[in-house]
Amino acid sequence: MSLPITMAQASTAGQTQAMLFQPLEIRGVQLRNRIVVSPMAQYSSIDGFLTDWHFAHFAKFAMGGAGSVFTEATKIERRGLGTVGDMGIWKDEHIAPLQRLAKFLKEQGATPSIQLNHAGRKAGTYKPWDGFGALDRSVPVEGQEHWEVIGPSAVEYLEGWPLPREMSKQDIDEVQSNWVKAAMRADQAGFEILEIHGAHGYLIHEFLSPASNKRADRYGGSLGNRMRFALEVTEAVRRVWPQHKPLFFRVSAVDEGGWTIDDTVILARELKSLGVDVIDCSASGISIRSPTASRIAPKLGFQVPYAERVRKDAAVMTMAVGLIVHPRQAEEILVKGQADLVAIGRELLYNPFWPAHAARALGHDKQYGDMPVQYGWWLDRRSKTGYTEE
Ligand SMILES: Cc1cc2nc3c(=O)[nH]c(=O)nc-3n(C[C@H](O)[C@H](O)[C@H](O)COP(=O)(O)O)c2cc1C
Repeated sequence: MSLPITMAQASTAGQTQAMLFQPLEIRGVQLRNRIVVSPMAQYSSIDGFLTDWHFAHFAKFAMGGAGSVFTEATKIERRGLGTVGDMGIWKDEHIAPLQRLAKFLKEQGATPSIQLNHAGRKAGTYKPWDGFGALDRSVPVEGQEHWEVIGPSAVEYLEGWPLPREMSKQDIDEVQSNWVKAAMRADQAGFEILEIHGAHGYLIHEFLSPASNKRADRYGGSLGNRMRFALEVTEAVRRVWPQHKPLFFRVSAVDEGGWTIDDTVILARELKSLGVDVIDCSASGISIRSPTASRIAPKLGFQVPYAERVRKDAAVMTMAVGLIVHPRQAEEILVKGQADLVAIGRELLYNPFWPAHAARALGHDKQYGDMPVQYGWWLDRRSKTGYTEE
């Protein structure tokens, strides 16, 4: 594991080597810096297919200098769709547009990364700007058929939401096999990092949390039993995901239904032993929407302590996420050893060139040398005209 170093230690020849801009090698993949674009659903797919909107959306983050660009939560089967507009990878036809995207991200120097997910009992919702509630199932949704809602137990997400059908062992096997097929397609598409979405109240988290898992078989009850589904999916995915490619796992480090940070540390140790390289530490979502979608403003870096605790107690690399907005804040998280990577979401929607600006703010790249030459050449000259604010 990389150890924290100070900015002073890393300073060479008058140029400050901010830790944020030091490359990180994980297995056979090198990230050019420690800035990761957090998965952000765009609700803009048609039948799971990536669209021009997605291409432009992801491409600009790579052009802006991010170390790795994650796709949104890409669904491993149609039953796993949250909204009708989610991206999918449940059929071979989905591969070609994903391949084009992965190739472009890599050409721009960013590591192409994909998050895979299954919505479980949170399947079948309106898009955020249409209210985020459960779909009216009496009419087609945007002209498409509805899909079945499954979960570990017949416990609905919120009042008025569909009661999921409790998954049989056969369903568990089928869903696990779809995770494996999706991982193989992601590899074929050229992605270099795969993240299993085990957070935010979706299927894997539903198995973990006592709030949504009331099973009496070996997938429910004790912590070990509730972790079984997550661990089996991870083991199966790791088997087909190439050894030289990193595997990440996103957790809700704590939730509102009884899952604790101590549980997360135990889970993280198990995941590490199965070949997970990085634990991406988010939180909540089992019975509330999410801190991101609410109007309550959490504190800057509100989830960083989870990444720090998991890194320390499970001795595994972590990614911190959640209101990381300032370059110095991001730098400090790394220097203090709270995480190995920082994931940024909304700040990058606001400013897709955040990494390039952070590189200047931290004294890493004063001449825009890391930017695509089509921009950097001009911006360097612009910066010397004296009319720009530095
Ligand atoms: C538009 C949007 C879509 C999101 N979609 C996903 C997603 O597909 N998968 C996921 O794990 N988190 C998703 N999130 C959560 C983000 O990855 C991130 O954890 C959260 O926004 C907190 O980081 P931030 O404060 O930097 O935005 C989404 C957030 C936003 C704003």
